[in-house]
Amino acid sequence: NWNIDNFIQEQVQLIQEQVGDKKVLLALSGGVDSSVVAALLIRAIGSQLTCVHVNHGLLRKGEPEEVVQVFREEMGANLVYIDAVDRFLEKLAGVEDPEEKRKIIGNEFIYVFDEEARKLQGVDFLAQGTIYPDIIESGTKTVKAVKSHHNVGGLPEDLQFELIEPLKMLFKDEVRECGLALGLPESMVYRQPFPGPGLGVRCLGAITRDRLEAVRESDAILRDEFKKAGLEGKVWQYFTVVPDFKSVGVKNHNRSFEWPVILRAVNTVDAMTATIERVPYEVFDIITERITHEVPGVNRVLYDLTPKPTGTIEWE
Ligand code: XMP
Repeated sequence: NWNIDNFIQEQVQLIQEQVGDKKVLLALSGGVDSSVVAALLIRAIGSQLTCVHVNHGLLRKGEPEEVVQVFREEMGANLVYIDAVDRFLEKLAGVEDPEEKRKIIGNEFIYVFDEEARKLQGVDFLAQGTIYPDIIESGTKTVKAVKSHHNVGGLPEDLQFELIEPLKMLFKDEVRECGLALGLPESMVYRQPFPGPGLGVRCLGAITRDRLEAVRESDAILRDEFKKAGLEGKVWQYFTVVPDFKSVGVKNHNRSFEWPVILRAVNTVDAMTATIERVPYEVFDIITERITHEVPGVNRVLYDLTPKPTGTIEWE
């Protein structure tokens, strides 16, 4: 009879047998699946695993720091942290088309990861956070698109590894259970879905550093206030978007000409359709007050009332 402790024990043994004294590489984004794979491999083979965390500048506030804290400091992992922020933002400068932005982010990720992989000598295996819905192809694109960034198929032909995919028979809730059993913090295990191109799709039009910071800071405030209001575990996905237009407002008795922040909070089962969360106005009031006072360059806050369809969950 299946239980998570048996699963972990069995996988640890299988991984040890497969890897022997060789080395394994893992692209660790900090998402649920890659984090759980990392924790499992650390348990099985410790320092024979090298995790590479690429900070592309499009992660949420505090995320790169959390990855370093949890995996390097607490779990003692071999973690290579790559600050690729300038590199990504330079490539994205002036690019308005959403598909083009996605392509640049995905490709640049492969280039950066490829460069790091080549620096490490004698690595034979690549671990991946593939889960069952990725294989049966009925999962949401959330999981799949993240994977395509990290996918071995995307790496050049002269840089191929044997794959290790210990979670490939698990559903998402089992992956989370596994993560908790391996000692990962709940903040990591119960994360909301987050697109591979990250905040890049929520900073509409051509990404600029100041507007990207407005997305990141407003998102942090929204998450903070949802947590305080007890909405954190209740709402499926919630985030902010900053469009690339400004409007006139008043700040400190002066005319301001600044961006709006758009709030989005939705519930869904499979991400194919979604409904709007009826957020209490008191919560909106606090969020609006905080965003307009704490986030530079913002003078208005809007709520997106659109279900999917006709909207999508993300804006881009
Ligand atoms: P849409 O906007 O299509 O989003 O209604 C449905 C779900 O998919 C997530 N999403 C992505 N996840 N890579 C991902 O891993 C992506 O490129 C991507 N685009 C959208 C979105 O956050 C929502 O949960």
